[in-house]
Amino acid sequence: MTTKTNRILSGITPSGNSLHIGNYFGAVKPQIELQNDSSKETFYFVADLHALTTVHDQKTLEKNILGVVLDYLSLGLDPEKCVFFRQSQVPAHTQLAIVLANYISFGQMQRMHAFKDKLQKDIGVESINMGLFNYPILMAADILLYKPFGIPVGEDQRQHIELTRDIAENFNRTYQQEEFPLPEPLISKQVGKIVGTDGQRKMSKSLGNTIGIFEDEAVIRKQIMSCFTDPNRKKATDPGKVDGNPIFIYHDLINDNQDEVTDLKSRYQAGQVGDVEVKEKLFLAHQRMFEAARKRRLALANDLELVTKILAMGADKAGQVANATLTEVYKIIGVKN
Ligand code: TYM
Repeated sequence: MTTKTNRILSGITPSGNSLHIGNYFGAVKPQIELQNDSSKETFYFVADLHALTTVHDQKTLEKNILGVVLDYLSLGLDPEKCVFFRQSQVPAHTQLAIVLANYISFGQMQRMHAFKDKLQKDIGVESINMGLFNYPILMAADILLYKPFGIPVGEDQRQHIELTRDIAENFNRTYQQEEFPLPEPLISKQVGKIVGTDGQRKMSKSLGNTIGIFEDEAVIRKQIMSCFTDPNRKKATDPGKVDGNPIFIYHDLINDNQDEVTDLKSRYQAGQVGDVEVKEKLFLAHQRMFEAARKRRLALANDLELVTKILAMGADKAGQVANATLTEVYKIIGVKN
């Protein structure tokens, strides 16, 4: 067994065509920080095959994949420092998933949140595709192929990593080998679950409560302007609540002008500022924070040859590690070619 105690891995599903600030603060930013820590070896990928659970239109999927690849690179992923690739370009992911499915029970799979939530929302099992049911097994393969130590993700991925650990333990126990080190979820208490603009639920594209990063300015302005604030504050002269108020959660994350945030909070608590001013200032802070990334994205979108090269280089590097693990696994289970 090769334990890589310094190896980090994570992925993003291109179920939509661009990332939101929940993805950024909960996952991408911590991932970039780890990439910039030279003691760590980082693997990041776009989990394109995972998107098939919901996206069944060729053009849409292509657009989503390219969109998320561009977002990731523009936000600071550096292909010289990390291995950046597309899941579908490394066939070992699907090959290992087929093997791993044999080391987890149907009962445990039925307890996975994504499946249970879908079951509650929809009419029943007839409307749930097997890709969604099997999703956590493919995710376990994504992880275990690289024998990483840590998985930087948001809180919503915790259960998937726990399942990955269970699969790894079952496999190791079955063959009395320490083939797979157990990966640790690296989830921040502060930013592991960024609330949506409805102030109620986790920010999520499917809930329509996001603030984008790369959308047109008019769209982002609208998303910010329609953000939920303190529901008990009827007019600007009412004293407002700052704690847990999404607009101030976002100010704390986005606004580089600390004095401005402090001033807005105290005026808000004293009933001396309207929601519109607080939101306008957030919009301006958003523009400052993501201006450089937005410029990089425009430039990259005009150089798709470079993007293709980056992904090919990443798939090659990732493939070497993944294939070595798959070869070990095939030998252990008894299908050595
Ligand atoms: P995905 O694409 O849904 O989300 C990408 C990352 O963003 C995090 N995230 C959030 N963090 C904080 N607050 C939020 N509101 C918020 N919304 C999303 C997610 O937790 C995630 O880290 N199954 C994964 C992709 C995946 C993967 C993997 C991850 C496939 N294979 C292997 C790690 C390792 C997913 O769908 O994430």
